Amino acid sequence: EQIPLELHKVRVVQKLHLVPVERRLEAAREAGFNTFQLSTNDVYLDMLTDSGVNAMSDNQIAAMFRADDAYAGSQSFDRLKKAVEDVFGKKYLLPAHQGRACENIISRTFVKPGDVVPMNYHFTTTHAHIDLNGGKIEELVADDAVNPVSSNPFKGNLDPDKLRDCIARHGADKIPFVRMEASTNLIGGQPFSIANMREIRKICDEHGIMMVLDASLIGENAYFIKMREEEFKDSSCAEILKTMCSLAELVYFSARKVSSSRGGGICTNDPAIAKKMEHLVPLFEGFLTYGGISVREIEAMAVGLYETTDLTVISQSPSFIEYFIGQMVDMGIPCVTPAGGLGAHIDAGSFLSHIPQEDYPAGALAAAFFIASGVRGMERGTLSSVRDENGNDVLADVELLRLAFPRRVFTLSQVKYTADRMKWLYDNRELIGGLEFVEEPPVLRFFMGRLRAK
Ligand code: F0G
Repeated sequence: EQIPLELHKVRVVQKLHLVPVERRLEAAREAGFNTFQLSTNDVYLDMLTDSGVNAMSDNQIAAMFRADDAYAGSQSFDRLKKAVEDVFGKKYLLPAHQGRACENIISRTFVKPGDVVPMNYHFTTTHAHIDLNGGKIEELVADDAVNPVSSNPFKGNLDPDKLRDCIARHGADKIPFVRMEASTNLIGGQPFSIANMREIRKICDEHGIMMVLDASLIGENAYFIKMREEEFKDSSCAEILKTMCSLAELVYFSARKVSSSRGGGICTNDPAIAKKMEHLVPLFEGFLTYGGISVREIEAMAVGLYETTDLTVISQSPSFIEYFIGQMVDMGIPCVTPAGGLGAHIDAGSFLSHIPQEDYPAGALAAAFFIASGVRGMERGTLSSVRDENGNDVLADVELLRLAFPRRVFTLSQVKYTADRMKWLYDNRELIGGLEFVEEPPVLRFFMGRLRAK
């Protein structure tokens, strides 16, 4: 058996609660069968997300103590700027309180009504901000990228032929930018290759279209490039990160994910691009040298960015995910392959083939798995999508239960427990029924919606 190793030691711990199954059932009901509505008092392993819950390093915590409290011109911000330049190779940095705040600023600046934004795949908040500004998205991954089972090492690649076709259909003037998302979140944390990024860059250049890179999960994407792309097998993560960023004019990120802290940022080497967005930062976020982020978190963010170049840090969650997915495959439990970054993704569509997609199988599996195990995952399927203009559900390409593996948080025995409970639930899957909404918010409904057993 290939056992992944923890290349860190635990120095601060937090007590967990494994409450009885009766309480978990009651808690699931109180939460409207929505795992976002659970309290961590009732959760044993919190695999909802990696956002803001990756473990911080000793060096990050230490850096927080030297933070320079200043409204304007904080030295902490200078250190962050230097980190962004050293790691991403971008000189101009606009801070924002988190990733979606960057998306707000970018979309307001560049997206006009009637515009189309081609991308390898959408993220929920990205989609919402582009919609809000009157734009539409087009998802241009290869046809097999949304098949849960695949041997394609780069399911996150943006399909060049589909992009050329999209440009021909709409005209380059309707396309404010092409967006590439590192470790494409909603199809299972799947990376793109640098060869693909170079090809897309070339098409963008031919048509004078800007390329935007969502770098929220860039570390894991860089790790997969090192592991899976021949040309880069001897490159350092630092070199790969720089190469990726050099191909996009504009890079933005959620620091909650990329650097195990809080915050977010937009960076570029083009002063004209930075200038276009700059005035929105004090309006929505805070002054240009803190952008709504506490200076302590800015320090942790800077150190975290450097740590993203460290293979022992960045390999940790992908190697644990790979182990877990190996267990799933061995036990015949349907899941997304190859294993990606950020989390393990269970194919709820196949797991619960008796539940019609209209009854939210991935949401049902998330609730049922919490009841069966005390492990909290997140629905990533139709429930996380938006309705069309006529109010009909748009069925998602994939119905996934995501079990996030925040970096350096869980131990191997906790991962084994999770695999064991998944096996039990798979053997008893006929116990699970579908869900329907009782309360459905108009935007990002998966956060606050309440459901009941159908
Ligand atoms: N882009 C990607 C690819 C993301 O995964 C996220 C957040 C964002 C943007 C938005 O960043 O949360 O800082 O505002 N993903 C989290 C998740 C929420 O659980 O996957 P944010």
